[in-house]
Amino acid sequence: MAKARPFRLWLALGSVVMILLIIVYWDSVGTAHWYLHTALSPPRPPGPPPSAGRAFPAEVDEFLEKLLGAPKRRPEPPPASGRPPPGPEGGPEESVRGYDWSSRAPGPEPGPEPDEQAARRSLLRDFCANASFAFPAKERSFDDIPNYELNHLIVDDRHGVIYCYVPKAACTNWKRVMIVLSGSRRGGGAPYRDPLAIPREFVHNSSTHLTFSKFWRRYGKLSRHLMKVKLKKYTKFLFVRDPFVRLISAFRSKFQLENEEFYRKFAVPMLRAYANRTSPPASVREAFGAGLRVSFANFIQYLLDPRTERRAPFNEHWRQVHRLCHPCQIEYDFVGKLETLDRDAAQLLRLLGVDRRLHFPPSYRNRTASSWEEGWFAQIPLAWRQQLYKLYEADFVLFGYPKPESLLRD
Ligand SMILES: *[C@@H]1O[C@H](CO)[C@@H](O)[C@H](O)[C@H]1NC(C)=O
Ligand SMILES: *[C@@H]1O[C@H](CO)[C@@H](O)[C@H](O)[C@H]1NC(C)=O
Ligand SMILES: *[C@@H]1O[C@H](CO)[C@@H](O)[C@H](O)[C@H]1NC(C)=O
Ligand SMILES: *[C@@H]1O[C@H](CO)[C@@H](O)[C@H](O)[C@H]1NC(C)=O
Repeated sequence: MAKARPFRLWLALGSVVMILLIIVYWDSVGTAHWYLHTALSPPRPPGPPPSAGRAFPAEVDEFLEKLLGAPKRRPEPPPASGRPPPGPEGGPEESVRGYDWSSRAPGPEPGPEPDEQAARRSLLRDFCANASFAFPAKERSFDDIPNYELNHLIVDDRHGVIYCYVPKAACTNWKRVMIVLSGSRRGGGAPYRDPLAIPREFVHNSSTHLTFSKFWRRYGKLSRHLMKVKLKKYTKFLFVRDPFVRLISAFRSKFQLENEEFYRKFAVPMLRAYANRTSPPASVREAFGAGLRVSFANFIQYLLDPRTERRAPFNEHWRQVHRLCHPCQIEYDFVGKLETLDRDAAQLLRLLGVDRRLHFPPSYRNRTASSWEEGWFAQIPLAWRQQLYKLYEADFVLFGYPKPESLLRD
């Protein structure tokens, strides 16, 4: 009895020392690769990217998982992709569900300017460091971001990639790419090789992806530290879109298509509050049948109404990108834009070193086009447009979208 206690004490001390050793090892590995990462900043010559920084030390991860009793989550690497992606019409679910309404922009996109990524990153850095440019929560540190606000950061440990998904900015297809990369599988099925073979339900099911918000449950008190190590070492990317065009796109896909969930949760309260409808129909089918829909103006009014955020944070489809992805706390290596999706996708897959086995799914027809903006906003009062700009100004500025002057003047 008397001997058991010191023994346990030694055991506990041993574990602590082990963990500390791991942290120290990990940190030094992390810092070493940090330089590799920043070396990516200047435009790199074509060819395979330095891969040394990519693979996460698997032994350490496995050891930690054993130590902490977290589930092992390291499936087999997926075999190289076989068939090329199908044509631009895409799978049937896309046309049925009105997927992203995307279309190829008329004509090919121009080639990238040589320093495009460097320019986008330095714009972000400059405005994040600029004290006279302020927006809510800008100055907090990464540690102060609550876990539930990290639920858009998807991690792939096998390739060392972190993707912050922004709804209405090609996120379905980038999530598909993340599924192929991380080898996640559905039930007992084989890992997916072809992004387009992955069903939409699986893509958007939150249990499919490993996000930072799940780290707490897995790693407990070590989770913040692990996140920071991964943020240092991994390639982090996001895709953004002109904020006003993104809003139009969100409105089209959630309120112009029959979407029961969005009808009940958002359209019904909007109809009550802004369209003078005390008892809207119970289902979206009935409402559409009766010709009743929320207007774009109702939607804008909902966004501008201070009561909206008091009830709950904006839905992710219209939440500001800086609130989803924390670009002043996380130093993104690659900032893609929907407006230049095809070439940005090709460049990013090259950067990740997976361009030979993975093709980004082609875009779809009927994408919300920037040229429609004037038409959509014509029905919105000028004062509302100006308030709306204020609400999304940080996204415009941080990601280099020009202020839509013509919409903000008489
Ligand atoms: C900082 O931000 C302010 C307000 O947006 C802007 O007017 C100013 O030019 C910025 N300064 C620098 C150095 O970028
Ligand atoms: C998401 O996936 C989990 C696990 O496969 C499943 O139990 C759940 O029903 C799915 N949720 C939806 C909304 O499909
Ligand atoms: C709202 O609807 C009621 C009855 O449907 C009508 O009497 C009232 O004038 C309407 N109010 C407005 C502001 O349109
Ligand atoms: C494209 O979208 C517009 C507006 O939502 C719609 O009226 C039109 O039918 C769509 N075209 C195709 C080819 O789906």
